[in-house]
Amino acid sequence: MFTSILPLLAFAAAAVAQPNPGRVTGDISVHDPTICKDDSGTYFIYATGTGIPIHTSPDRINWTLIGSVWPDGAPSETNQFTGTTNGDLWAPDCTYRDGQFYLYYAASTFGSQNSGIFFATSPTGLPGSWTDYGLVTSTETGDSYNAIDPNLLIDGSSWVLSLGSFWTGIKEMMLSSSTGKPSSSDVISLAQRTANNGAIEASVIWKQGSFYYLFSSWDNCCEGLNSTYNIRVGRSSSAAGPFVDQSGIALTDGGGTLVLGTHGSIVGPGGQDLMADVDGTVMVYHYYTATTSLLGINLLDFSSGWPVVV
Ligand SMILES: *[C@@H]1O[C@H](CO)[C@@H](O)[C@H](O)[C@H]1NC(C)=O
Ligand SMILES: *[C@@H]1O[C@H](CO)[C@@H](O)[C@H](O)[C@H]1NC(C)=O
Repeated sequence: MFTSILPLLAFAAAAVAQPNPGRVTGDISVHDPTICKDDSGTYFIYATGTGIPIHTSPDRINWTLIGSVWPDGAPSETNQFTGTTNGDLWAPDCTYRDGQFYLYYAASTFGSQNSGIFFATSPTGLPGSWTDYGLVTSTETGDSYNAIDPNLLIDGSSWVLSLGSFWTGIKEMMLSSSTGKPSSSDVISLAQRTANNGAIEASVIWKQGSFYYLFSSWDNCCEGLNSTYNIRVGRSSSAAGPFVDQSGIALTDGGGTLVLGTHGSIVGPGGQDLMADVDGTVMVYHYYTATTSLLGINLLDFSSGWPVVV
């Protein structure tokens, strides 16, 4: 019996081996985290929640909740999408560049296409320091996609926004680097699924070496330990695609190579963002417990040409 079981166990371990999150401490309850680092070396995480909560850390390990982007209430223009005045804003995306924080964030309600993406900037990233520049793009019931989950890629002089959730999937539009708003009405399709009700969202376009990588979260968020969220990737030689997965399947045709899924007590990892740091490319994400969602941080190794969580 033992001789037949041991090889089986070894195979199972090799097939499912996925690293646990690196050590984090302090205020690590987050959903849809995005990470930035300023010139002084302070790390900032913005996340889904009332007014967009802000966590900071001196070392990327110990995190402190220091307040929110909008401590005096969300910009009133978001209320038409959240349907409230409590400012529950979703899945922000931060970029720090030349002493300035850029933040895209979304306003919507669960399962609705009445959604808007907004843009704000700050010189410090701190609570109450933000200037809102208003609506970037929006969708309404009957549109082919959903204007949430923004992500900015600054690629040379080009600003590229990816967005989308369910419906016909992940889209891309070009932005003006001077206004942060669309510079054209063109909407490019980057990735789409038909499986599981088209569950794809939380896109990130990341340039590493000679490739652009499109990360997304598949399947179901927000159901505690029932969550089936998982992180997928494809790559392209252009930010506009076409993206293919490691098996050569187009991401517009349901392709997507698994980067990180449920393993052990780490349930439903997703809502990811990437950042270049001194020790490599960092991926932040959340995963679920029975009562909340927690911050995960790992490095990604791209040396094989495909991202591997380490
Ligand atoms: C984490 O940071 C907080 C706030 O600066 C500090 O009070 C706490 O002692 C730190 N914890 C650890 C484990 O370093
Ligand atoms: C998880 O699924 C079970 C069985 O369907 C259900 O009873 C429970 O409410 C679900 N939990 C959450 C947090 O969705």
